[in-house]
Amino acid sequence: MHVTRWPAFVVLGLALSMGATAGAAQTMPSDARIKARVDALLARMSLEEKVGQLNQAGAISFGQDGPKIEDVVRRGGAGSVLWLNDTKRFNELQKIAVEESPSRIPLLFGLDVIHGYRTIFPVPLAMASSWDPAVPERAQTVAAREARAAGIHWTFGPMVDIARDARWGRIVEGAGEDPYLGSAMAAAQVRGFQGQTFGAADRLVACAKHFAGYGFADGGRDYDPVDLSEAQLRNVVLPPFHAAVKAGVGTFMGAYMDLNNVPASGNAFLLRQVLKGEWGFRGFVVSDAMAIGNLIIQGFARDGRDAASRALRAGMDMDMASGTYPRNLAALVKDGTVKTAEIDDAVRRVLTVKVRMGLFEHPYTDESLLTKVVSSPEHQQEARWAAQRSMVLLRNEGKTLPLSKNIKHLAVIGPVADSRDATDGSWMVFGHTSNAVTVLEGIKAKVPDAKIEYAPGPEIRREIPSFFDALTGVPQTTPQTPGEAEAAFQLAVATARGADVVVMVLGETASMAGEAASRASLDLPGRQQALLEAVVGLGKPVVLVLLNGRPLALSWAAEHVPAILEAWEPGSEGGHAVADILFGDVNPGGKLPATFPRKTGQTPLYYARTLTHSPEGSRMYNPRYWDGQNSPLYPFGHGLSYTTFSIDNLKVSAPKVKVGEQLTVTADVANTGTVAGDEVVQLYIHQKAGSDSRPIRELKGFERVTLEPGEKRTVSFKLGPDELRYWSTSAKAWIQDAEAFDVWVGADSTATLGAGFTVVR
Ligand code: BGC
Repeated sequence: MHVTRWPAFVVLGLALSMGATAGAAQTMPSDARIKARVDALLARMSLEEKVGQLNQAGAISFGQDGPKIEDVVRRGGAGSVLWLNDTKRFNELQKIAVEESPSRIPLLFGLDVIHGYRTIFPVPLAMASSWDPAVPERAQTVAAREARAAGIHWTFGPMVDIARDARWGRIVEGAGEDPYLGSAMAAAQVRGFQGQTFGAADRLVACAKHFAGYGFADGGRDYDPVDLSEAQLRNVVLPPFHAAVKAGVGTFMGAYMDLNNVPASGNAFLLRQVLKGEWGFRGFVVSDAMAIGNLIIQGFARDGRDAASRALRAGMDMDMASGTYPRNLAALVKDGTVKTAEIDDAVRRVLTVKVRMGLFEHPYTDESLLTKVVSSPEHQQEARWAAQRSMVLLRNEGKTLPLSKNIKHLAVIGPVADSRDATDGSWMVFGHTSNAVTVLEGIKAKVPDAKIEYAPGPEIRREIPSFFDALTGVPQTTPQTPGEAEAAFQLAVATARGADVVVMVLGETASMAGEAASRASLDLPGRQQALLEAVVGLGKPVVLVLLNGRPLALSWAAEHVPAILEAWEPGSEGGHAVADILFGDVNPGGKLPATFPRKTGQTPLYYARTLTHSPEGSRMYNPRYWDGQNSPLYPFGHGLSYTTFSIDNLKVSAPKVKVGEQLTVTADVANTGTVAGDEVVQLYIHQKAGSDSRPIRELKGFERVTLEPGEKRTVSFKLGPDELRYWSTSAKAWIQDAEAFDVWVGADSTATLGAGFTVVR
């Protein structure tokens, strides 16, 4: 199926067209030279031009007649353009900017390149499941290479929002529930997108988004308000953003929603105090699409003037497509509401990124480059490798997997088994035409001699169509009639009945997760559960492969289906990677980056909560629900392998450590099975008392190791002030308490191999 993920905003019709020349390697000027160049530019720019640099123009009309983008660029009215994906047009617009606009400042072209440009990688939630930062780093290196070859300079990624509510559709774009894992994945993505040298000719400028708290929307309802204590913000939400800053991320994007009653787009605490103040961030911040104009709709700003002045003064440097800055900022400066120095600070940040990128020297893109870059077979290999490493084996009773390649007759059943849309997943760059290898295709390629029969079963579709599909005019198909659905159901069961083994491929379509794609239920959509039960009822060996963008509630499957592989939305090479794992060419080693609940009603469910007076396992334990268990179905960090591992010999380098000092924790991990495999060794701590209550467990170290059968390795983790301090509600500051700690090392967040140490003054 053709997948077109248009930008997150209003769309109707396209714009633009033009032509030009090459783009090449850059040399890095020194900080002093960059500053001098930016100062010189600023000195000759008019106020209107400065405001222009703070305007990101949408290259798509919004239904109403606005000025032509060429004219906006010609008069210096745009610093950046987004929602355009056409090399020729990039060059044409750029030519106007560098030859006709007053100060000849090149445009920065931005687009959402989230998990691949042409070669599609697993969705970010999947890549986080690899617990291997090399996976997102290498994936985003390829994504950057392809997108930059198309003329894109700047991606709106990584999304580093922590999400603990699987109903929230955008959980698919992040690294899951944990700030430590999330920080590692955030930094890795920044390294991948930007490379070692900021502005390298085959890299993109990255953008950490959405600052901050977006993943905590009430009820998992996208865009709804967020209320978070400062402790939650600083201990849970902000660490991945801070990690992105430390990794050198060039830009930030604000979030849409209200954070503690102040919209993130006008939130001086977030932007001025934390980001630009405490963290010393020197890049620029762009709003989310239309977000500055939305300050009025959100009941915060009185009018456009109020929205523009409050957003800018709060630290929002660039207005994404709302037109509020270009309409109001110059007048606000003229009447003294906004100071020239405030404008200059924002413009300086934008210009500094452009100069550092070498855009002035190399504004154009070679129009023949993309074809050469995307044809690299290495990119496909990288995508297959990333998908293999991202998959999580949730269950494998009686060694159902791997399947034998001598299999005679296999049934592949389910609505996403042959779906390119679900294989590529959420957030395609617009104009993308999928060439994803589906699971059905991957299996056929793997066992060409087997008889393989396929039946999709009843279709699945959103009960309420996608806002973006409706907006962008994606053709809507007519729903199956109940009769057609029933016939498809019966055909699927009949197809399964004739086979020796059944692979069921169930889950979600791409538009069921992502922006404006939250769900009230975490069950398998449509009639998939009924189909699964009917097929399992046939008594054949059944393997369940899941393609989905969020944790699902799979209690029935976890009891009745012997093997379950969480393949997420695995990208272009996803079908091959699934087949590699199903038939044992690859041993799965991914681990869950988010807790799987038993029932939707448990959400939000995450491992790192604080203790209560009635903890699980204690004599006074008082069950939390009377209609179901409180524990997760699959805990954070869970994932199986075709081999077995032991983890033992836990040692802490010293029983006591002084505040500010470091200790070492080691454990031995051994492959006790008969095939090579990967284990992710995870370290969790718990501070037993202190100024504040601390989470029952917190991940503070992990390492994915590959071991041959019988091989043993010692894994070592450092615990120092960075791992042991926290933001305290009582102290209203970062503190490190002198207290006793538990430490566990194991294969998931329920690890039992434990020891202890004490921090002393
Ligand atoms: C989304 C952002 C995205 C932007 C530009 C918004 O609706 O929230 O994540 O980067 O659109 O497409």
